[in-house]
Amino acid sequence: PLKSIAKLATIASILAASFNVFAEPIEIKFSHVVAENTPKGQMALKFKELIEQRLPGEYVVNVFPNSQLFGDNNELAALLLNDVQFVAPSLSKFERYTKKLQIFDLPFLFEDMAAVDRFQQSESGQKLLNSMNRKGVVGLGYLHNGMKQFSANDPLTVPKDANGKKFRIMASDVIAAQFDAVGAIPVKKPFSEVFTLLQTRAIDGQENTWSNTYSMKFYEVQSHITESNHGVLDYMVVSSNTFWKGLPADKRAVFKTSLDEAIALGNKIAAEKDNEDRQAIIDSKRSQLVTLTQADRQQWVNAMKPVWAKFEDQIGKDMIDAAQAAST
Ligand code: LMR
Repeated sequence: PLKSIAKLATIASILAASFNVFAEPIEIKFSHVVAENTPKGQMALKFKELIEQRLPGEYVVNVFPNSQLFGDNNELAALLLNDVQFVAPSLSKFERYTKKLQIFDLPFLFEDMAAVDRFQQSESGQKLLNSMNRKGVVGLGYLHNGMKQFSANDPLTVPKDANGKKFRIMASDVIAAQFDAVGAIPVKKPFSEVFTLLQTRAIDGQENTWSNTYSMKFYEVQSHITESNHGVLDYMVVSSNTFWKGLPADKRAVFKTSLDEAIALGNKIAAEKDNEDRQAIIDSKRSQLVTLTQADRQQWVNAMKPVWAKFEDQIGKDMIDAAQAAST
């Protein structure tokens, strides 16, 4: 009799699994470091909505914003431990997994977001999505935020204005070299600490997009923002090989199309926020906008562009050429 009970139990669990009657939905975690009213925040919520609508009862997607679950220092490690299934760090934060993505940090490489987009969608850009496969990280798509601006507690008009000042940077050696090039002091810190560092004047400035500067209220603790558009801050949505390849093929296809749609929405929001949040900061009058003349901007270009040569071997000259071609 014990044997037949065991047999029945096995049959019941097989039935339950195949009809998904008693089975709990599988929890998927998406962790990120920004606010919800941002391109990435909205993209993640759209992804949740689409998955739960298309695979009801099978998956729930829980989104953790604002470094609540994991922050800059541990989100990729957590991904590889399968403690989280999706993250979308900025392209500057993958250095430990590949040197190739450093291309996106080269100052004054991309003319504007359209150029960034053309490069990402090109064959070279798409190839970079696979640059971390051997480390167990799968690139599923690029997501935009926008071009970066400098902010500080003094107007930064020409490079010498940055001399001796401390700037918070993301953990990127290229960005460190960019600030070194103007005699500034780069300090690598996680995103979650930036507001307090600025508020307490432990650091003098930072660089970020209009969206991040607005949503994190950096403009309330920085007297000036220089409209420099000197680099790009975009993301790669990634999962782990183990999780992604472990999904049944039909489910994986739903995940991929849902992700693509969520990213398309995120990109649309990124373009809108770039203008809206810039304007909201100007209207707040908390922070003053510094606009650069062409001659002033050229000084920044001249000071920072030599950084490219230092990283050319790691990134690959062919990649840099392809990125430049996207701007012309
Ligand atoms: C930063 O650290 O400044 C950004 O990468 C935050 C983000 O994810 O947009």
